[in-house]
Amino acid sequence: MALDAKTNSLEEFWIPFTDNRGFKKDPRLVVEARGVYMTDHKGGTVIDGSSGLFCSPAGHCHPKIIEAVHAAMQDLTFVSPFSTAHPLAFALAEEVARLTPEGLNHVFFTNSGSESVDTALKIIMAYHTARGENRRHFVSREKAYHGVNIGGVSLSGLVNNRRAFPVTMPGIVHMRHTWTDEELKVPGQRSTGADRAEDLERIVANYGAETIAAVFVEPVGGSCGTLPPPKGYLERLRAICDAHGILLVFDEVITGFGRVGGPFAADAFGVTPDIMTMAKALTNGSMPMGAVAVRDDIYETVTDKAAMGGIELFHGYTYSGHPGACAAGLASLAIYREEGLFERAEEMTPYFREAVHSLGDHPLVKDVRSIGMMAGVELYPGEVPGLRGVAAQTALFWNGCHIKFTGENAIVAPMFISERAHIDEIVGKLRDTIDAIEA
Ligand SMILES: Cc1ncc(COP(=O)(O)O)c(C=O)c1O
Repeated sequence: MALDAKTNSLEEFWIPFTDNRGFKKDPRLVVEARGVYMTDHKGGTVIDGSSGLFCSPAGHCHPKIIEAVHAAMQDLTFVSPFSTAHPLAFALAEEVARLTPEGLNHVFFTNSGSESVDTALKIIMAYHTARGENRRHFVSREKAYHGVNIGGVSLSGLVNNRRAFPVTMPGIVHMRHTWTDEELKVPGQRSTGADRAEDLERIVANYGAETIAAVFVEPVGGSCGTLPPPKGYLERLRAICDAHGILLVFDEVITGFGRVGGPFAADAFGVTPDIMTMAKALTNGSMPMGAVAVRDDIYETVTDKAAMGGIELFHGYTYSGHPGACAAGLASLAIYREEGLFERAEEMTPYFREAVHSLGDHPLVKDVRSIGMMAGVELYPGEVPGLRGVAAQTALFWNGCHIKFTGENAIVAPMFISERAHIDEIVGKLRDTIDAIEA
């Protein structure tokens, strides 16, 4: 597959979250990918240092996923998910429930992380409504990313994702983020910043506990450039939520499926939320799919409230639990289990941590943060904040490595199938690229 400028105009496609004008002058097309490597349209080899967009821990084009989707779609290419269903959706929900923490055994399928977040918001509203409670505030956090639908944008704590979109949900209150400049370039959970969980107590004092529906957090901030929770922070949020009947939601769209140790961050940090959102690695990135796992009594409260014989939750997507996506999800979870990929990620973590933190000595590197198989390498900004990150991501691609930047943060998230040599190649190419930046 080659780029053919006569038949493939670059103009019509409005590329998401991209510098379209720059991209169209200097396009970077991926035309093929296998395992940890991709091929660009000029025939160059590019190592994937971000597992696509943190979705593909088992590598690109895994043959077992391709076979499973192909086989499933010989029988079914679509089944209406409203009032009919198919066996693959039940099988995948069962597999997901096996991985989620005890008590979170009900799974609603969506097509993306953004839809998972908006679905979680609506399930929470339906739950409190069913209980006759008027909890109308949602708590989020600065630096948060919860996708791009209106609910997720309302929860967002990233200014660029908000400023052009003035009409968002009312009733959202933000806690402070947990980053401080007291401990820089320290791996894992830091000991500063946990006191910011007390912001939730202040919000409770200010608005009244009985008005607060839920708190949404990414257990590890992802799109802000990898921000692990300070020691004790998630535990404190859990305790405050319990004290006031507030639901705790972990947005595990990036952290789910082995990225930070344990199947979910909830396991890695030993804190169980009431609701978890997920997507990305659910299908190893091969098919669009997300999910929301909820505590059993939340499901029961909503369903029991409805009149027998009537629809209980007026929510769902045409493609919820699509047969192809379910087949991809089942195959992906089987691969993670059979190839021991979560364990492999944990074994590789110390090597990865050391490699990525070696970049901390570079004069352009402001901070390095890491947890499990994800890390943020934050550069000092240039004159216009954000531009250095865009330029670095482009230069890095032409140096043969893909890493997703947000702002000045390189988010390094190698595939779990990566060997040590792959980690060295990713970190080496990132260093070479940073070396070439004019300070
Ligand atoms: C924590 C979190 N929530 C939600 C989303 C949105 O997911 P999607 O891009 O699949 O809509 C993302 C995407 O990166 C994410 O990191």
